[in-house]
Amino acid sequence: MNPFEIGIVGGTGGIGRWFAAFFASEGYPVHVVGRNTDLTLRDLAERCRVVIVAVPIGVTQEVIHRVGPLLDPGALLMDLTSFKAAPVRAMLDASAAEVIGCHPLFGPDVPSLEGQNVAICPARGERWLPWLRDRLEKNGARIVETTPERHDRMMALVQALNHLDTIVLGLTLREAGVSPADLEPFTTPIFRMKAAIVEKVFGASPRLYAELIAGNPHTDELLAIYETQLARLKDLLARKDIDGLAAALNPGKGSP
Ligand SMILES: NC(=O)c1ccc[n+]([C@@H]2O[C@H](COP(=O)([O-])OP(=O)(O)OC[C@H]3O[C@@H](n4cnc5c(N)ncnc54)[C@H](OP(=O)(O)O)[C@@H]3O)[C@@H](O)[C@H]2O)c1
Repeated sequence: MNPFEIGIVGGTGGIGRWFAAFFASEGYPVHVVGRNTDLTLRDLAERCRVVIVAVPIGVTQEVIHRVGPLLDPGALLMDLTSFKAAPVRAMLDASAAEVIGCHPLFGPDVPSLEGQNVAICPARGERWLPWLRDRLEKNGARIVETTPERHDRMMALVQALNHLDTIVLGLTLREAGVSPADLEPFTTPIFRMKAAIVEKVFGASPRLYAELIAGNPHTDELLAIYETQLARLKDLLARKDIDGLAAALNPGKGSP
């Protein structure tokens, strides 16, 4: 028996293209839709038992509302969005199909699923979940099954806070008035690691990073903690309080 067909909206680029190649390598016929493909969302829905939405965050809900109603209840509608609460809600509202929210916790530059984390939020139906888990686990992925709300809260730390911190570092370096060429001979291994992360965030897909920070419903809470901590450190530095600064890093250790 031929395996069923899989459709990926947003499969012409980014993480959607990565999953198109992945499912093709697993033996599934895969069809992709982008803004300029001849294949339409209706074609995709008619041919495919599994339809995956992997478009930029800003258009995800609109795309879900266009493709969702075209699927029948036996199909699977899944998304790969970096947030889960809003897209999962949109999939449940827009479609009668089974629904799983999925967030691959890696980018399209990884060579395989081996050792990668994948968050999944099963939201409607039970038929497709074992199939998805099986595909991912057989290829070495580590699955965390969670609710959309808990996922987004975790992403506020792993993505929003983390990338915001990188952006603050990058902007400060930019404003410091030293060219990267002048700085290079003075760099340490740890600085070069951090500079590489700054370069990735500023270079690769600034819009994605901006959406990850601005779109997370929990960013404000963390930003408040971040500002409090920065003000606390600034105050210790203003007083040249080295013991206080050391104690802030590791309260258990005390002063030498
Ligand atoms: N990149 C990552 O590291 C990563 C990791 C995990 C999850 N995600 C999530 O995956 C999603 C896509 O991110 P990405 O970085 O892969 O984006 P991307 O590189 O910009 O690719 C987006 C894809 O969506 C298509 N597209 C854009 N607008 C569309 C529309 N209105 N209708 C149909 N297709 C459209 C594009 O195709 P055309 O240009 O051909 O139109 C392209 O194939 C986001 O929700 C993001 O949160 C990304």
